[in-house]
Amino acid sequence: MSAVRLSRALCLAALLGACAPRPVPEAAPAPSTLKAAYRGAFLVGAALNAAQFSGRDTAGAALVAAQFSSTTPENVLKWESVHPRPGVYDFTAPDRYVAFGQQHGMFIVGHTLVWHNQTPRWVFTDATGNPVSRDTLIARMHEHIDSVVGRYRGRVGGWDVVNEALDEDGSLRRSPWLTIIGPDFISLAFRFAHEADPGAQLYYNDYSLENQAKRQGAVALIRRLQAEAVPVTGVGLQGHDRLDWPTVEQEDSTIAAFAALGVKVMITELDVDVLPRAVRQTGADVRLSAAARPELNPWTDSLPDSVQLALARRYAEVFRVLYRHRGEVTRVTFWGVTDKDSWKNNWPVPGRTNYPLLFGRDGRPKPAFAAVLAVPSLGATGP
Ligand code: G3I
Repeated sequence: MSAVRLSRALCLAALLGACAPRPVPEAAPAPSTLKAAYRGAFLVGAALNAAQFSGRDTAGAALVAAQFSSTTPENVLKWESVHPRPGVYDFTAPDRYVAFGQQHGMFIVGHTLVWHNQTPRWVFTDATGNPVSRDTLIARMHEHIDSVVGRYRGRVGGWDVVNEALDEDGSLRRSPWLTIIGPDFISLAFRFAHEADPGAQLYYNDYSLENQAKRQGAVALIRRLQAEAVPVTGVGLQGHDRLDWPTVEQEDSTIAAFAALGVKVMITELDVDVLPRAVRQTGADVRLSAAARPELNPWTDSLPDSVQLALARRYAEVFRVLYRHRGEVTRVTFWGVTDKDSWKNNWPVPGRTNYPLLFGRDGRPKPAFAAVLAVPSLGATGP
């Protein structure tokens, strides 16, 4: 075969090779879990109750292990649970909670050290029932934080050090922490937590920071702490949302306002209330309550498809904002796992049937789950 013909043949072969349909690379399977879908963007977590992390609720525990990369204790690390009486600590449930998180390689959050709720009266009063002195309360706070944070040093990655210390107008809430110690109770709590575990992230956590007055109060608070070189790592926006609150603009500007201070921003207690409004206020003021009325509890059997769809759209809208802020937003935690676990079944009206989360009472994913899973692949646009 002449050289000319050979090279022609080789060229032809090369051409055919080039023109041959290249095998289309297999599209990577769409992530089927929240933690996989948001890997590299932010952690996705859930607040756990004792039945889940102790394994009693085996279905709940399995769902948590499959879907989430972070955990928060809904109640067991609160003062009334872990330190019910002077000098008496009960670490049984918290030890199990931390062990569960470690077993599944999750980022473990501690909630919460200093709060005006679920803190026993003895903390603020002496044997005669009168308020204790500033120094006594500071010493009690110091001992509590040292004992609790110290026990989980290196295992709990971040603590909600101070929770809900602001009123709706942005001023400091008149809790016994403020009236007995004074405004510096917040910086003291952060310093004690840092002392007990210098490696832990330390957060200020609150609700309704999407409302301007309260947001401005929180921004001023973080600035004050930073000016005092207090080791505050991040701000937790609880995210007890509704179908119509907060707006995308409020969410966007709130995340931007705290990111601009150089702190991490987390959504720490996300749920979306779908039931008729029973109280005027937004957020999660647990002192609020309203009487049960049938029209406030319209869907006791199941959620109509139209509301399922509205919830899916709402969650996609919220996650589009959060995904746009990935890098600034470092964690998104749901306040509960399935609808049956949610505190929103009993607040502000006891005994309602609410549907605020991504998984139904049977543990099965709702349309909102698919909508949230799809956001990273759909980017800023969406359903
Ligand atoms: O432990 C007792 C139990 O012994 C008793 O039998 C039972 C019956 O009343 O009550 C149990 O205590 C309940 C506790 O949860 C533990 O389940 C309290 O009544 C109940 O009020 C408490 O509710 C918790 C609420 O905080 C209290 O403030 C919710 O589960 C919890 O989801 C909620 O979480 C807060 C966050 O910590 C901070 N941000 C707002 C959020 C919602 O309020």
